[in-house]
Amino acid sequence: EGLLAPSGPLAGRHVIVTSGPTHEPIDPVRYIANRSSGKQGHAIAKAAREAGARVTLISGPVTLPDPPGVTTVHVESARAMLEAVEGALPADIGIFAAAVADWRVANAGEQKIKKKDGALPSLSLTENPDILATIARRTENRPPLMVGFAAETEHVIEHARQKLAKKGCDLIVANDVSAEAGVMGGDSNTVHLVTASAVETWPTLSKTEVARKLVERLGAMAEGAKP
Ligand code: CTP
Ligand code: CA
Repeated sequence: EGLLAPSGPLAGRHVIVTSGPTHEPIDPVRYIANRSSGKQGHAIAKAAREAGARVTLISGPVTLPDPPGVTTVHVESARAMLEAVEGALPADIGIFAAAVADWRVANAGEQKIKKKDGALPSLSLTENPDILATIARRTENRPPLMVGFAAETEHVIEHARQKLAKKGCDLIVANDVSAEAGVMGGDSNTVHLVTASAVETWPTLSKTEVARKLVERLGAMAEGAKP
């Protein structure tokens, strides 16, 4: 934190970002998770900070360092991530870049499950809360600008449009994670910005550049939404 009042397009704004995967325990030594490096979400938190915002980053387990000047809250599970996001409200902008595990194990063991001569453990799954949809549907303290992500392997734009409507957010950043486009965990990203009225495709950019351009765009959208 410098001594000068923050300046930049997001000065005076509070931005919440979720990033990374969540881990859902099977037992104390095993878990279910999505693939996510957290690189894009962390880059967004950093870019928002550089644009002058006060930033709260809610991060699942990643190997990345906490971005400087950003309040970082570390969580493991989807339920803990939801609780941390709710605890960080109110905010002007919510950016939900985390790859949240859709299911958790209902009967997670308190002790390590031991192998038993080829007999397989049976795991019963239960659905995790949808963090983005839960926050977007709040009547109190809904951030005026809510951004979701959609990693799709096919019908990218169509699926993103459906998610925009289903989750009640204002913008979806969609990316193609099919084998052909395949850059999961890489340093670049090819995204489509999907709103209710338009689709905009960006060229392949570094995750840092995607973050900067997205933050710039959100600054303009937040400005336009001012009363
Ligand atoms: N998301 C969330 N909480 C969940 C699941 C997803 O906040 N439990 C958010 C993600 O952070 C992302 C957006 O919702 O911003 C879309 O996630 P995605 O996994 O693509 O959507 P799902 O509704 O889970 O659909 P799918 O069946 O394709 O996984
Ligand atoms: Ca999902």
